[in-house]
Amino acid sequence: MSKRVALVTGGIGGLGTEICKYLARSGRRVVAADLASRAERVTEFRKEVAEFGNLIQFEPINVGDFDTCAAAIKAIEANHGAIDILVNAAGITRDTTLRKMSPQQWNDVLAINLGGVFNTCRAVVEGMIERGFGRIVNISSVNGQTGQFGQTNYSAAKAGMHGFSMALAREVARKGVTVNSVSPGYCRTAMVAAIPENVRSQIIAAIPVGRLGEPSEIARVVDFLCADESGFITGANIPVNGGYFMDF
Ligand code: CAA
Repeated sequence: MSKRVALVTGGIGGLGTEICKYLARSGRRVVAADLASRAERVTEFRKEVAEFGNLIQFEPINVGDFDTCAAAIKAIEANHGAIDILVNAAGITRDTTLRKMSPQQWNDVLAINLGGVFNTCRAVVEGMIERGFGRIVNISSVNGQTGQFGQTNYSAAKAGMHGFSMALAREVARKGVTVNSVSPGYCRTAMVAAIPENVRSQIIAAIPVGRLGEPSEIARVVDFLCADESGFITGANIPVNGGYFMDF
């Protein structure tokens, strides 16, 4: 069988990069899609994944806009083949309390973190159904489960991803396509490094495991959900948060 093709949005980001590597190591051809405007990071990313040769390739995408996102995915499929696996890891924060939040801060986070999931899924799901196989993994957040001070926008978008994933999971369950979410806790990424030091140290103190998560600890769960053998797991959310939030 030819290698499965995986598209990872936010593919050059803190979690995305590690997800790309994991998927490539388990035999997928991976397209890391992200904003081309992050030119310096694209160059660094290419160096970081050089050992994978052409198994990991960068392509530009803006998940926040329906039409350009659809066009980018069409071009990616023309260059790399039909997408079997979609991992939505593109996400931004615009943290501030609601009383200070501008409509732009609200709209940007919703458009990218949640709108982006609609835009990418809408572009790939038809093909997955036709071919009778697909794996979609949406990277949500523990803060979509608990809410977080200063993140009404982000928590709303991340909680929305759960509802979206469960609803789409039902729609495509009989077509060989699974849709799941993974909810990372606080991990060692640039996004978490940007939290003010005093706030971050309080958060780390509240993580039962006593440390930030490693991006690879998220990536291995994504890889597991993307396996051909994971076809009976759908509509699920897998928390990976060091015990920061426990539920059953
Ligand atoms: N809980 C309760 N009260 C808090 C608080 C908290 N966590 N943080 C601040 N406050 C209080 C302040 O002490 C202040 O009180 P007073 O008005 O009595 O002085 C009040 O709330 C307002 O505080 P600020 O003016 O500082 O609020 P702000 O609008 O500037 O926002 C903030 C502060 C930027 C949101 C800051 O609290 C912050 O960065 N918090 C962390 C947010 C966070 O965890 N982001 C996660 C980013 S990583 C990520 O999202 C990845 C993932 O999925 C896990």
